[in-house]
Amino acid sequence: MAQIANDTRFWNRAARKYAAGPIADMAGYERTLERTRHYLGGSDTVLEFGCGTGTTALRLAPHVGRIVATDISGEMISIARGKAEAAACGNVAFEVATPAAISEPDATFDVALGFNVLHLITAREAALAGVHRLLKPGGIFISKTPCLSEMNLLLRLVVPLMQRLGKAPSVSFLSTDELEREIAAAGFEMIGREHHASRGRDARPFLVARKR
Ligand SMILES: C[S@@+](CC[C@H](N)C(=O)[O-])C[C@H]1O[C@@H](n2cnc3c(N)ncnc32)[C@H](O)[C@@H]1O
Repeated sequence: MAQIANDTRFWNRAARKYAAGPIADMAGYERTLERTRHYLGGSDTVLEFGCGTGTTALRLAPHVGRIVATDISGEMISIARGKAEAAACGNVAFEVATPAAISEPDATFDVALGFNVLHLITAREAALAGVHRLLKPGGIFISKTPCLSEMNLLLRLVVPLMQRLGKAPSVSFLSTDELEREIAAAGFEMIGREHHASRGRDARPFLVARKR
């Protein structure tokens, strides 16, 4: 509980800067959107958790029926709601929630999305169980997650120091194989692993899973 409160504070403080920052690899991001759209139907009901300031939900909204986009940070959600209003986007609802506590009935969603967030969730087992509960049978779960154990090893030294200074949130140093095992253990069949970075080594696998 204390950890969630600390992380919520961290992300609330980070929200304005996060909203103003550029997307580091725009070509890679566009590829991710394109590949995500491949799994979406025009009348689908979609969940996005850890949606941040709503950029992805708002980009995908014209291609689906309805999106519920959630985040632990009220500041992120407030910025996202402002963007939805400015864009006159009526089929996205932004809500404050963790994936384990989203108040929607079981089997509501055709597709669930989690981008750049699974490595930040310490209670990942509960989060994945929540996503599984919310998906319809055969529903699709797409994630793209920095697998930090496959990135610069210095991070392992730097992150704990930054956390002590309140300058980094909770993070897990996952590998792609570990992450896939966790998703599979939550009741999913892994059906795709792709990499979308337009340059450099890519340790953010785009994983596609189907609810068993
Ligand atoms: C790196 S940002 C990614 C935002 C967005 N998905 C994107 O790709 O730009 C991580 C987001 O996850 C949210 N977050 C962190 N821990 C979370 C948790 N335990 N449950 C839900 N969201 C969380 C943060 O508030 C933040 O908005």
